[in-house]
Amino acid sequence: MSNSEKISSKEAIELEDKHGAHNYHPLPVVLKKGQGVHVWDVEGKKYYDFLSAYSAVNQGHCHPKIVGAMHEQAQKLTLTSRAFYNDILGKYEKFATEYFGFDKILPMNTGAEAVETAIKIARKWAYEKKGVAETEAKIIVCENNFHGRTTTIISFSNDEEARNNFGPYTPGFIKIPYNDTEALEQALKDNKNVAGFLVEPIQGEAGVYVPGEGFLKRAKALCEKHNALFIADEVQTGIARTGKLLAVDHEEVKPDMLILGKAISGGVYPVSAVLANNEVMNVIKPGQHGSTFGGNPVACAVAMAALEVIRDEKLAENADKLGNLFRRKMDDYIRNSNIVNLVRGKGLLNAILINDSEDSSTAWDICMKLKENGLLAKPTHGNIIRFAPPLVINENQLLDCVDIITKTLKKFEK
Ligand SMILES: Cc1ncc(COP(=O)(O)O)c(C=O)c1O
Repeated sequence: MSNSEKISSKEAIELEDKHGAHNYHPLPVVLKKGQGVHVWDVEGKKYYDFLSAYSAVNQGHCHPKIVGAMHEQAQKLTLTSRAFYNDILGKYEKFATEYFGFDKILPMNTGAEAVETAIKIARKWAYEKKGVAETEAKIIVCENNFHGRTTTIISFSNDEEARNNFGPYTPGFIKIPYNDTEALEQALKDNKNVAGFLVEPIQGEAGVYVPGEGFLKRAKALCEKHNALFIADEVQTGIARTGKLLAVDHEEVKPDMLILGKAISGGVYPVSAVLANNEVMNVIKPGQHGSTFGGNPVACAVAMAALEVIRDEKLAENADKLGNLFRRKMDDYIRNSNIVNLVRGKGLLNAILINDSEDSSTAWDICMKLKENGLLAKPTHGNIIRFAPPLVINENQLLDCVDIITKTLKKFEK
């Protein structure tokens, strides 16, 4: 079967089921086209995308400027590896470091790879700059974290599905409750060997948990006091999603290491990065870390275009404004609802909590109904549904979506 042959939803699902590993449980919708806030299935039905590929497609599907940059670069040079220099990596590195305000960037491809990179840099920094004895470095992480799926990362997850039967696990992590600066302080006091604190400024996968105001600022101050690196994983929250360029910007916190992925390419290409200043990044020397595709010419062209779109189209401002509107509208609905308990989030990263047990199928059933009604969203954990549309959504479209969501929810009221 060639890629140009037409395929029905049923056929596409059967093919994946038969020939692909069963490592995902997708909603039964088969998409073939995307533009802006919309996607279309193979039968031609149009939907609002309210997931944005887990916040990768912040700039909207197939943004012409980003796709254009990819097309143009792909015709000139796609991959050199880092065995040689190329004419675009340096330009991208200058652009991105100025854009985010750090001395240096280390380019990778996926979010999990960037997290791994940050862990390696933090450990090396601890041994070479902080004077921690070799193999003794610890990294503090939070309960219910999600940082990806590699062997090391799942070692400090407490999602049993992600962990079970994948051991032995990588040691060197200390887990504390999220949003708990007392626990952080205690962990820093009890352990002289802490390299850093790795944290999501909002826990996305866990169900869009927004920490209390001041948590990030206090956590950063504690890290400074105890000479540990504050490492922000903004793979999901970064690049305008929460109404600021970075979620840490809400509290004017500057991380020692910033981890980015997903929307740094507008969902067009796998691009990720770690940014840090020289005193941290310079612990990495030739041969100690890398990736054949990391920082490839296409990735550089795509990321520069994607970041320009964020700035030129004022997507952080739009996310802030429409996020407030969305939560206001949902709060209005929830006041008289017995199926939704609450809406929470920042900017256009939001979730509703369904009034049913975590192991119930209600959230899934609601997402199936939303799909029927022309809006795609997915439960995060059990009874939580995340709503994260592309940030190019306009007010009329958002109000249309609120209408679809509330009409759908009404059908589930008890
Ligand atoms: C906060 C965070 N970190 C890391 C990752 C992993 O990114 P990737 O799936 O590109 O490996 C994700 C993915 O959802 C994420 O939300």
